[in-house]
Amino acid sequence: MSFDTVKDDFEQKFVKENPQILKHMFGSSDVTSFWIADMDFPVAPPIADELKRIAERSVYAYEFDTNGMFKAIVAWNKARHGQTLDRKAFVQVTGVLTGIAIAIRELTEVNDDVLIQTPVYHQFSKLIKTAGRKVIENPLQIVDGKYEMDFEDLEVKLQSENVKVILLCNPHNPIGRVWRKEELQRMVSLAQKYNVTIVSDEIHSDIIYAGHSFNSILSADSENPIALIGSPAKTFGMQSISDGFLYIPNETLRENIKETVESMYLNHGNAFTTFATIAAFKEGGPWLDEMIAYLEKTISWIQTYLKEELPMIKMFPVEGTYQVWLDFSGLNLPEKELNTLLVEKAKLALTPGSWFDKGSGQYQRMNIASPLSKIQSAFNQIRAAIHESI
Ligand SMILES: Cc1ncc(COP(=O)(O)O)c(C=O)c1O
Repeated sequence: MSFDTVKDDFEQKFVKENPQILKHMFGSSDVTSFWIADMDFPVAPPIADELKRIAERSVYAYEFDTNGMFKAIVAWNKARHGQTLDRKAFVQVTGVLTGIAIAIRELTEVNDDVLIQTPVYHQFSKLIKTAGRKVIENPLQIVDGKYEMDFEDLEVKLQSENVKVILLCNPHNPIGRVWRKEELQRMVSLAQKYNVTIVSDEIHSDIIYAGHSFNSILSADSENPIALIGSPAKTFGMQSISDGFLYIPNETLRENIKETVESMYLNHGNAFTTFATIAAFKEGGPWLDEMIAYLEKTISWIQTYLKEELPMIKMFPVEGTYQVWLDFSGLNLPEKELNTLLVEKAKLALTPGSWFDKGSGQYQRMNIASPLSKIQSAFNQIRAAIHESI
């Protein structure tokens, strides 16, 4: 398997390269994209083979294999993370965000508060607000160059606000932390003290780098949280053909959520998604190992390049996810000028930090699930743009 080249000989309608979307988001379509969190890489061969098999049958009668899918996910979690899951606790939904939106509506009333840890995946605050709930921020803090949870602030917020749900991002997009078990345990004990339910988005759980291991929120509390074990989307680069799963150990809560999901018919997968998911979790392991090793080389190349060529730009330690979080504050540029430099001079679309938190304008998120040559060109473009501006 080679991750060095991308297929570009077909007509692409990918969001990340759509000129109208780029113009709307970045003010220019003349940019190379590193913003949206999907992959340039072709999927693992067993997934592609399964999709071809279904396509070539030319018969698309109603078809489900929900049990087969959950069985594959349970086996994957056991083998990959040593985690024992119960097939009966899963609820299928059409996507992870759909699952969170439903969970929030089930667990809270209009005007209740939902707590998030900023900077965090920007759709979180959108889905809370569009449900008529209020966002309470518990900002992460930078301690010795690394993001940590602020438990004192968390307790203050749980005490003083009307928080009913903590929406956890585990591993955390965009800052790349993989939460340790002790951190999750501290969060769980506060959640229990203030009677708050944790909803844990774990979509990035399989992209974990050497020296770290993934802990689901279930490792700290196996009974109460709703853990979004996720979907194959991020792990296997299946963003346009995947659905999502909630894992709800509490039977009453699960039955309530199932009822809502089923009443809206949101549990209907399609054959492509179902069989590609089964193939991914059953046979995608070797491909994923190779992909993670490839990304580790990319991260190490970026570290060296920044040290040698651009010491004023810092990259936070990347423990998981294929996003890197870059600190441009060493350039001493106002936020707007930084964005202009990157878009107009370096001709790159990274994700501005302000998408994730108003106070993070000096940071940018970069998706590194691309061939190393593309990443190298991007950093050379950043260096040239900076030298040109000085
Ligand atoms: C933390 C997180 N949750 C959810 C999603 C989107 O999931 P889905 O496309 O299944 O709704 C993303 C995509 O970037 C993400 O980073």
